[in-house]
Amino acid sequence: MTAATSEMALSEQEFKLYQALFAQKLGIHLPDQKITLVGTRLWKRLRACGISSYTSYFQLINQPEQEAELCRALELITTNETYFFREPRHFDYLREHVLPALKLQDCVRIWSAACSSGEELYSIAMVLADLRSGRWELLGSDINQSMIEKARRAIYVDQRTDQIPADYRRRFCRRGIGPHEGSLRIDSDLRSRVRLRRIELHYTLPDIGMFDVVFLRNVMIYFDNETRKQVVQRIVEHLNPGGHLFVGHSESLRGISPRLKQLLPAIYRVEAG
Ligand SMILES: C[S@@+](CC[C@H](N)C(=O)[O-])C[C@H]1O[C@@H](n2cnc3c(N)ncnc32)[C@H](O)[C@@H]1O
Repeated sequence: MTAATSEMALSEQEFKLYQALFAQKLGIHLPDQKITLVGTRLWKRLRACGISSYTSYFQLINQPEQEAELCRALELITTNETYFFREPRHFDYLREHVLPALKLQDCVRIWSAACSSGEELYSIAMVLADLRSGRWELLGSDINQSMIEKARRAIYVDQRTDQIPADYRRRFCRRGIGPHEGSLRIDSDLRSRVRLRRIELHYTLPDIGMFDVVFLRNVMIYFDNETRKQVVQRIVEHLNPGGHLFVGHSESLRGISPRLKQLLPAIYRVEAG
């Protein structure tokens, strides 16, 4: 072990403190094998704060007036990876089966829970704007406030926008100019039609109404079984009978709720309760 790596090593005792903190604040259970990963991710932040031990940093982020620093620490632990039209079969299913079955006079409501920096949210928005002549509402939420701000800005570098179909890119995106050259921004009309707010999925949900579709993708990997069950059950309560729930392809909901009927891998429909 080099001097640098031994300096940043997190002891088992310190890891236990952080394990309990992240379980409480994020609803995630970090297995013991994640000790190095947690140490590596926190170390840079300790350095930036001028703090030399994980215990001192733990004490700092537990002070009530250090809420912002606590959020920084939580953000370092979660993964925000996302991209436009990720798992494209979901968008095909939305386009070909879900939207055509909804009455034109009804307002369609969709929620992208754990939307990260907004790529999933705006992929859904483009499909809605393309296919739905009637009213629709789209909510995006995440636990991470800086991701919500990114989603609100809706500026994405070109290399990360390849999956947007050319027709959608032409209709719903604006090319950046000047300092924004090399990126694109989601059109203001589309941006004004989405709502963004911070929601912690592992706690009781705020009053957000009922939805026809919820995207809950690639977030449950963090939760232990009990948390996953509670999160899904609370979300099912916010889905209209016949509504659809999309989860990540590596996430299974087997045995979680008797009201969920699997239609295809990672696509579920809610039966009347
Ligand atoms: C890997 S990204 C998935 C983004 C998008 N749904 C997708 O599939 O591309 C996971 C997101 O879940 C968020 N997240 C993690 N724990 C959460 C929680 N307890 N409540 C709400 N969001 C959470 C993270 O901040 C992150 O942005």
